[in-house]
Amino acid sequence: MRDGIVRHIDGLAGEDLPAYVYDLHALREHARAIRAALPERVEVLYAAKANSDPELLSALSEHVDGFEVASGGELRHIRGLFPGTPIAFGGPGKTPRELTQALDTGVERLHIESEQELRLLTTLLGGRTVDILLRVNLPIALGPVALAMGGQPSPFGLDPADLDRCLAIIAADHRIRLRGIHVHLASGLDATAHLSLAGDVLAWARDWAHAHRIELAEINIGGGMGVDYAHPDQKFDWAAFGAGLGRLLARHPGLTLRIEPGRSVTVYCGWYVTEVLDLKRSHGQAFAVLRGGTHHLRTPATKQHNQPFRILPADAWSRAWDRPEAHDEPVTLVGQLCTPKDVLARRVPVGRLRTGDRVAFAMAGAYAWNISHQQFLMHPAPAFHHLDHAPVPAASHP
Ligand SMILES: Cc1ncc(COP(=O)(O)O)c(C=O)c1O
Repeated sequence: MRDGIVRHIDGLAGEDLPAYVYDLHALREHARAIRAALPERVEVLYAAKANSDPELLSALSEHVDGFEVASGGELRHIRGLFPGTPIAFGGPGKTPRELTQALDTGVERLHIESEQELRLLTTLLGGRTVDILLRVNLPIALGPVALAMGGQPSPFGLDPADLDRCLAIIAADHRIRLRGIHVHLASGLDATAHLSLAGDVLAWARDWAHAHRIELAEINIGGGMGVDYAHPDQKFDWAAFGAGLGRLLARHPGLTLRIEPGRSVTVYCGWYVTEVLDLKRSHGQAFAVLRGGTHHLRTPATKQHNQPFRILPADAWSRAWDRPEAHDEPVTLVGQLCTPKDVLARRVPVGRLRTGDRVAFAMAGAYAWNISHQQFLMHPAPAFHHLDHAPVPAASHP
């Protein structure tokens, strides 16, 4: 956490909390580094589902080639914010209205998830044309991953057995241009695993295109670049990934490769900041009850992990009684909800944590606020702060 962010949090009153604090300067630097690590022939679409906060998207927009959306709502949001920016529209269960919206707004790529979706598209096209990728659920063994969405039975993408029928539909309809293949099989892959997956996908696509005499101009290998909530400093190795993609592309001249990461791009720039309302003991264990909870930051509940956090001590104490505190012991950090599932971090050792101290949860920039059950118990919503200043350079000495 940069000093400027700490100072900003220190300046907030208790009633200003909880708050999401987004470090847009850090986000720009991170996105710039990702772009720099990748070969030119790799296009980056940010998966808006990870976090569609407008200011965060604006900071990102300079460093990505476009956005991936997965609903009519996301499509409207992104088109409204960035009218000329390329959009790929994917995701299962697209309704006729959403497909029409995609055609009306001229999405650059439509990712087709099933034969029925393709058939539906042919009935909606009218005089228009559309560029599509077929999303395929390839039978590739993934090994241990955070979230498998393919490589096994799943509702996502086309079974390879359905591809021939889809090709026949496309061949019979000159309005549909098949540009290539889309594959998003998992979330939580490290660079080595993702490269191996990319190699398998490219090899399969080349053989498949050759066998069917198709020209494949592009392949989208999805998102899913891993982040490690237990070790926030161990980040996805974009340099190794970029170098590996460069080697792969050298074997596939003329091919454009696309990736659509979400979590790995924005997760680090977000902090969910709150304060300890109460610190108590129950049957020998310490619990810190925080202002807010998993209705604002659902990530630890959904992933069943401890959200990493940093304690920002607040020394002022004006109450007439002794300040409750935990000292060199494990503490469970919970929210204000009336459910034992409202746990942000369980039995984590702390040096000292007191009622009134601030707690800043890290890695809250993706799948955090936007996946939370915000109305449960009707507590106030958090505030949102977008900090965009660069660190002040150290004074230079003559
Ligand atoms: C099709 C597709 N693309 C991209 C993503 C983004 O994945 P991640 O945020 O893990 O990078 C997802 C996430 O579910 C997805 O379903």
